[in-house]
Amino acid sequence: MRFSSLLPNRLPADISLLVFAFEKSKRPVGAYLYGSVVEKGLAEAQSDGFTGKAGQVAMVKPREGKFRRLLFVGLGVESQATLEQVRRGTAAGARLASSIGAKSLALKTPSQLGNALELAQAAAEGVLLGLYRFTGFQSAPAPKSKLENIFCLAKDAEEAPQIEKGLARGTSFASCVCFARDLINRPPSDTTPEFMVKEARKLAGRFISIKVFNKAQITKMGMGALLGVNRGSHQPPYFIHLSYKPAGAVKRKIGICGKGITFDSGGLSLKPAASMETMKYDMSGAASVFAVFRALAMLKPSGVEVHGFTPLTENMPGGNAVKPGDVLRTMRGKTIEVLNTDAEGRLILADALSYASRQSLDEVIDIATLTGACVIALGTQIAGIMGTDPNLVGRLKAASVKAGEKLWELPLEKEYVPLLKSSVADLKNIGPVGQAGTILAGLFLKEFVDEKLPWAHLDIASTGWTAAQTALSEAGGTGVLIRTLLHHLLSANEMRQ
Ligand code: BES
Ligand code: MN
Ligand code: ZN
Repeated sequence: MRFSSLLPNRLPADISLLVFAFEKSKRPVGAYLYGSVVEKGLAEAQSDGFTGKAGQVAMVKPREGKFRRLLFVGLGVESQATLEQVRRGTAAGARLASSIGAKSLALKTPSQLGNALELAQAAAEGVLLGLYRFTGFQSAPAPKSKLENIFCLAKDAEEAPQIEKGLARGTSFASCVCFARDLINRPPSDTTPEFMVKEARKLAGRFISIKVFNKAQITKMGMGALLGVNRGSHQPPYFIHLSYKPAGAVKRKIGICGKGITFDSGGLSLKPAASMETMKYDMSGAASVFAVFRALAMLKPSGVEVHGFTPLTENMPGGNAVKPGDVLRTMRGKTIEVLNTDAEGRLILADALSYASRQSLDEVIDIATLTGACVIALGTQIAGIMGTDPNLVGRLKAASVKAGEKLWELPLEKEYVPLLKSSVADLKNIGPVGQAGTILAGLFLKEFVDEKLPWAHLDIASTGWTAAQTALSEAGGTGVLIRTLLHHLLSANEMRQ
């Protein structure tokens, strides 16, 4: 698909037009560019029940003029609308355009909701995220979208370069989210740790280097927690360290660590069948890290050096599996009594964060499908965030607002630390059942991060998967927070030291 900016007087004939409209407004967005035909079209749609409510779509075949179809998309009440409505609305419009077999689509973004760059970016993201389908394993997949050209209308020649930049950024962001979705949605026996290594190796290039540690090297580094989780599986574990080095001076070094359980059966503390159905998405954190690096290769931001860490293994209940009561020795030296083998994410992240702590970073962020408790606390629309540095947490929240993704902070409550004390080891991997499960997992991870290193933890258990289609995702892996992480990395260069 090609995205480009276009001056209205260059609009080709017989093109479909996506037209935004605020609730109950008679004047559609960009009306001044098109003449009366679009206003008449809106009146017709409104007489058929289109009100402009957020997410609503309506199609009109104009009686005159050069447009093939008018696709009206509601943005909701003008005073309450945000950039996210543009993203979601473009997704809805693109889905409609694709359902009628349109090849080209033009749109004018509502300038009251943002600047030209961010509006164009939101539109490009909407199209690509909204049209994403995972079809790799169907013998007769639904026909692909025929959309080839998306034109984002510029009000004048001066605006065009900003639009071009926004479209390029939006396509990089969203295509990398789709890359992560593909990895997540693939069957778990295909997306093994070894397959993930193959995918990661493809990311290496001019600015990106990769180090892959195999089982022998993981053993040598003392990552006993990662090895412990791996013991019940026939697939060998891997640990990957990706690095992005920009051209020019480095102002900030950021680490991102992603949980890479390619399938979580629970291990000997086996999950019930229904809870296991979706556990191929337990590598979403690692997929997010890969997606970020893919985007870094495209965007080549200056001033920021980025390190990605992914511990990779299955969590399986084989004959050699780690048993409840076993004690594991981590890379950091701390010992862990494993009382529930299903609390495995924090084990592999313990070693990954210990490794990250030795890389002289300015900050580290981990992203993980970590706790079922997070699903209960925050539901499917909000991810959990915890951290040791309010400034880092604040910047991540600001990035999430730009991305239209939702984060809610939970406290790393000190008074709960004793709940993780073990009588035989330094720590145990679970606390009391049903109590602050998401926070306890965060407190557990904190034990493995260097005290001087600002750290934030993102729990995407609740948001990494959607059972049904949403405005920006089909059912399946969502690739949530990848765009937030990218905004965070792009703004690091603007930070005052
Ligand atoms: N991968 C799961 C967390 C999860 C659960 C993600 C549901 C998405 C949806 C994690 O490894 C896990 O099993 N956590 C346990 C921890 C418990 C045993 C302390 C959980 O949340 O039940
Ligand atoms: Mn688990
Ligand atoms: Zn897990």
